[in-house]
Amino acid sequence: MHRSSAHEASRLQLNAQDRLRHFLTTEGLSRDHLTEILDTAESFIDPVTGAIVNRPLLAGRTVMNLFFEPSTRTRTTFEVAAKRLGADVLNIDISKSSTSKGETLRDMLWNLEAMTADIFVVRHGDSGAAHFIASQVTPKVAVINAGDGRHAHPTQAMLDMLTIRRHAGAFENLIVAIVGDIRHSRVARSEIHALQTLGAKEIRVIAPRTLQPRDFDQLGVKVFERMEDGLVDVDVAIALRVQNERMESALLPSSDEFYALYGLTRDKLKHAKPDVLVMHPGPINRGVEIESAVADGPQSLILKQVNYGIAVRMAVLSLAVRGQGEQR
Ligand code: CP
Repeated sequence: MHRSSAHEASRLQLNAQDRLRHFLTTEGLSRDHLTEILDTAESFIDPVTGAIVNRPLLAGRTVMNLFFEPSTRTRTTFEVAAKRLGADVLNIDISKSSTSKGETLRDMLWNLEAMTADIFVVRHGDSGAAHFIASQVTPKVAVINAGDGRHAHPTQAMLDMLTIRRHAGAFENLIVAIVGDIRHSRVARSEIHALQTLGAKEIRVIAPRTLQPRDFDQLGVKVFERMEDGLVDVDVAIALRVQNERMESALLPSSDEFYALYGLTRDKLKHAKPDVLVMHPGPINRGVEIESAVADGPQSLILKQVNYGIAVRMAVLSLAVRGQGEQR
């Protein structure tokens, strides 16, 4: 997505009171916006038991999941989140929808709106798809981006921020390294914007040259090619999946070579702080970007991330409905 359209996406997602109305990208949102999402998510977690609490803030509302790409974590946690907020949830089976008979996306949306949709949760392979959908819907509908192409995955970034805040502490004290296929990663892009806005001390990316972001000079991150250098003094290491399906050409020699150089292993983690925390948005490829002993080890927060995803998605759904209501 170009900078001008990214700016438009960030403008489109706020209402006249400067509050969230859609959630399309972490880019362009203020520290207050992101902190409000984190604090609202925190309010859905029982402080004693850590369990996610039910609160029927969306009773009588309808959330429609429109997933044009596969998903396990995001689609399911959006469904759990919406149900815990008392909403009705419909998972639209895109492969069986009338788009296969030539119906346009716009017509499909308008028909779903006529079925009283209040929120569309959208995952799509094209960068900018959620932005496009938000620009087409009527004012009473909110759109949440559940991942669009290589552009953004804002709820993943925010659940990662909640995980970091709960387990590693204040962002100002933290060096965070994102490791692996940065170039094709919508998660990395959304995380980098969120970490910058929330004031992380230092953001690093560690990747082979072919998988480094092309615009890293504009992203304000430190770029490393060697894990031995990039992991030094790191507080949080986030491994990313190698996204073979998004590579136009062979950018990697082999999975084995990638693992040898960039796999997050116990050996490589010795360069980081002793209590380094390990994260991964999933799905994980064991033995490609992460060693099983690390993924399942005591410093891994991978399954906590999934659990916090429910609270963060409850927060985003409830804030978007509030923002919708204010602008009517
Ligand atoms: N992290 C993530 O987006 O996982 P899914 O593709 O399973 O939703």
